[in-house]
Amino acid sequence: MSIKILVVDDEPLQREILKTILSGEGYETETAESAEVALAMLKKLDPEVILTDLQMTGMGGLEFLQSLPEKSVPPAVIVITAHGTISSAVEAVRLGAADYLTKPVDKEKILFAVQKASERSRILKENLRLRTELFSRFKIDGIVGVSPRIRQIVDILRRVADSSSTIMIRGESGTGKELIARAVHYNSPRCGRPFTALNCAAIPENLFESELFGYEAGAFTGATGRREGLIEATQGGTLFLDEVGDMPLTMQSKLLRVLQDREIRRIGGKETIRVDLRILSATNKNLEEEVEKGTFREDLYYRLNVVFIEMPPLRERCEDIPDLVAAFVRKYNQEFGRRVNDVSREALKALVEYRWPGNVRQLEAVIERSVLLSDGGTLTLDDIGGLLVGRKTINSLGIDLPEEGLNFEELEKDLLQKALQRTGGVASKAAKLLKMSYKTFLYRIEKFGLKAEKDE
Ligand SMILES: Nc1ncnc2c1ncn2[C@@H]1O[C@H](COP(=O)(O)OP(=O)(O)OP(=O)(O)O)[C@@H](O)[C@H]1O
Ligand SMILES: [Mg+2]
Repeated sequence: MSIKILVVDDEPLQREILKTILSGEGYETETAESAEVALAMLKKLDPEVILTDLQMTGMGGLEFLQSLPEKSVPPAVIVITAHGTISSAVEAVRLGAADYLTKPVDKEKILFAVQKASERSRILKENLRLRTELFSRFKIDGIVGVSPRIRQIVDILRRVADSSSTIMIRGESGTGKELIARAVHYNSPRCGRPFTALNCAAIPENLFESELFGYEAGAFTGATGRREGLIEATQGGTLFLDEVGDMPLTMQSKLLRVLQDREIRRIGGKETIRVDLRILSATNKNLEEEVEKGTFREDLYYRLNVVFIEMPPLRERCEDIPDLVAAFVRKYNQEFGRRVNDVSREALKALVEYRWPGNVRQLEAVIERSVLLSDGGTLTLDDIGGLLVGRKTINSLGIDLPEEGLNFEELEKDLLQKALQRTGGVASKAAKLLKMSYKTFLYRIEKFGLKAEKDE
């Protein structure tokens, strides 16, 4: 790893001397003639070490030290101070400087201080890497599920997480779309940088642009000061566009431009700012249809959809329910200080058979409530049954109410026909099967023009 150093000094000669000494030792050295220039350079430059003078025209060394941007591994700052101003050097160390040197600077001392500082930076970076590795493993393992579809998704995540490719996640509400997005981020090299979730359905169209791009003072009425947008604030990290199908068309074009040019300009600003972002998006809409209708830009759709992940609804992966229940029981035991240690067979059966229109989020809420209300021990059907809305009617028939609803009359006709088939057309038996009176049964099949062998 080559070590980068930034030298900040308003005296040209001093800059040159330091640069010569450091470059001579193989350090990649850049110089800045003021703290202001240095701060601007730091947007792109990520030095391990900064050497700065304390007394400079314009912003002084102490203020510079306090203005440094936050970093997961901040550069080590070595301040250089004139003889007799030791007290400000001490102050600098209190403010976070790694070391100080007094003028006139001695080559050996500089090299020693720089070596120490860069070693510290190397260790911090290594620590961060190890911590991230742990964190990320934990995060992927946080995705509970043994079903083939979940295992397959986890597999894809492991393969694509450390790239920068865009990922689109589609699924019903509560299926874990945001969980997946976070797992991607915390498993990527970007994990030390921000993860920003933006709900596109929740932002009024006229605020979208300023929210994403920020603005300069005076850009519009009310813009009294400069404000950084979400894109800039997420620099180096991951931007998660939730409900991306609700993004207004005008914003879609602007976002597309960001993806293409990888730079933005604040509203009312002249300066272009390079951006390094990974964009993940989620939707519960069928975006292909939106593209057909012209409400979603096709080019943006392809940009966002390099990797596509479909989250299955919970009812299509019932085999995951026992593990999810166990995980949520553990979580809420801890949170509420309860000691639930088991779930009865009947209760588990009801949970597995339920349709879960609100998916994992609903399951989590049901377990949360029942753990909160329990006295510990075993969760029984009594504890949870009441929380499963409409359970009996749906499950005793084993009928799935499809998303788009169903035609009740057709369903009725179908049931009448099936009952007749099963009883060889004998109306009295078919009526019994459907728990109807003989008369009612005859009345209904007549309504649908069905035939039965009348046997009474
Ligand atoms: N496989 C899973 N393992 C553990 N927890 C999960 C899993 N899937 C979802 N959850 C939990 O369920 C809840 C809902 O998940 P999430 O917010 O990611 O869903 P979503 O798809 O973004 O929902 P919406 O469309 O409503 O925004 C979260 O608390 C999440 O931690
Ligand atoms: Mg969500």
